[in-house]
Amino acid sequence: MELCEFTEGRAKIEVPKFEKVTAKTPVFYNPKMAFSRDISVSVMNAIKLKESGKVIDGLSGSGIRGLRYILESNSEVYFNDHNPAAARLIERNLKLNSLEAPITKSDFNHVYGKFEVVDIDPFGSPVRFLDGAFRILKNDSYLFLTATDTSALTGAHVSSCKRKYDSKPLKCSFTHELAVRILIGKVARNAAKYNLSVRPILSYTKEHFIRAYFEVKYGKERTNKTLNNLGFAINCKCGYREVTASFIPVCPNCGEKVSFSHPLWISNIKDSKFVSNCVKEYESRDFLNEKPLELLKVVENELDAPLFYDIHELSHIYKVKIPKTEEMIKKLKELGFDASATHFSPVSVKTNADIKDVLRCLNE
Ligand SMILES: C[S@@+](CC[C@H](N)C(=O)[O-])C[C@H]1O[C@@H](n2cnc3c(N)ncnc32)[C@H](O)[C@@H]1O
Ligand SMILES: [Zn+2]
Repeated sequence: MELCEFTEGRAKIEVPKFEKVTAKTPVFYNPKMAFSRDISVSVMNAIKLKESGKVIDGLSGSGIRGLRYILESNSEVYFNDHNPAAARLIERNLKLNSLEAPITKSDFNHVYGKFEVVDIDPFGSPVRFLDGAFRILKNDSYLFLTATDTSALTGAHVSSCKRKYDSKPLKCSFTHELAVRILIGKVARNAAKYNLSVRPILSYTKEHFIRAYFEVKYGKERTNKTLNNLGFAINCKCGYREVTASFIPVCPNCGEKVSFSHPLWISNIKDSKFVSNCVKEYESRDFLNEKPLELLKVVENELDAPLFYDIHELSHIYKVKIPKTEEMIKKLKELGFDASATHFSPVSVKTNADIKDVLRCLNE
């Protein structure tokens, strides 16, 4: 098999030569996903694992994620991929970087051991691997995961979302935020079966993927409380939107029937202090790309108000001139509200103002 070499972060790897990135290559490697791995390294550094913190790169492919965790975060990494060609390549790539680490060729759901960090980076949806992940996560641990099935989560394939996530998606201007919330909600419900509670410390979406990072803790009481963070997202044609624990069939703003998504996570989808630490970690590594840092900074400053307002959509509904996003944020702040940009959309704002005040601001 002809190989070609890549350097990513501090790691060097060899992968089968490819024309186009596809899941059908003998061993998968997507150079574009360096974006996600750059952020993961800063997350790994920000969580400050206890000594002997074991990390499993559960769906390793070429091993690039795990290699970078060893080289850039000094982690103790276990590699796993059920594809024997991937396992052979990981062995080779470890040698290329003068490293040694355990490699297994199991189906991820049959991996054994206990880990402080489980990273699952599959093709498509991570739901098939959630039971496997919670089985091997210790108390006080972390789950990192990727979802690339955004067409299901954003409502392009409603039945697929229902099957995989047991959730009804909704196409609307803030669909991508709902997608992240549906994913987090599913992870929380799956964890609850094992008396485990999850807390999202960072989550974001970019192009075709979602990446989410969770703190995982054991305890029945804690898990019961976590489940109170599940509920509905309501959307109305008038621009009203809300997350709520119980369903509201009629819009409190205009009296029309609303549309909704359910069940999904209605609480915070990140911990701003933790994201600040990731930003600091990221900035301490001057060899990394700028783009992921830009995204991290937007997420860091994003208000924890659920469901953003799309300024273009509102301007269209109410036939007013479209203001610049920064102007809208400034105006909302002048009126005494909290407001921020959002990584979900460059033409949207997050704010604690309700629809009436947002419209007042838009009209001014
Ligand atoms: C998207 S690739 C991983 C990419 C890699 N983490 C990276 O950053 O480049 C998904 C990998 O999961 C492996 N895989 C798929 N199903 C699996 C299973 N049930 N158990 C273990 N590995 C599996 C595939 O062989 C493939 O290498
Ligand atoms: Zn309404």
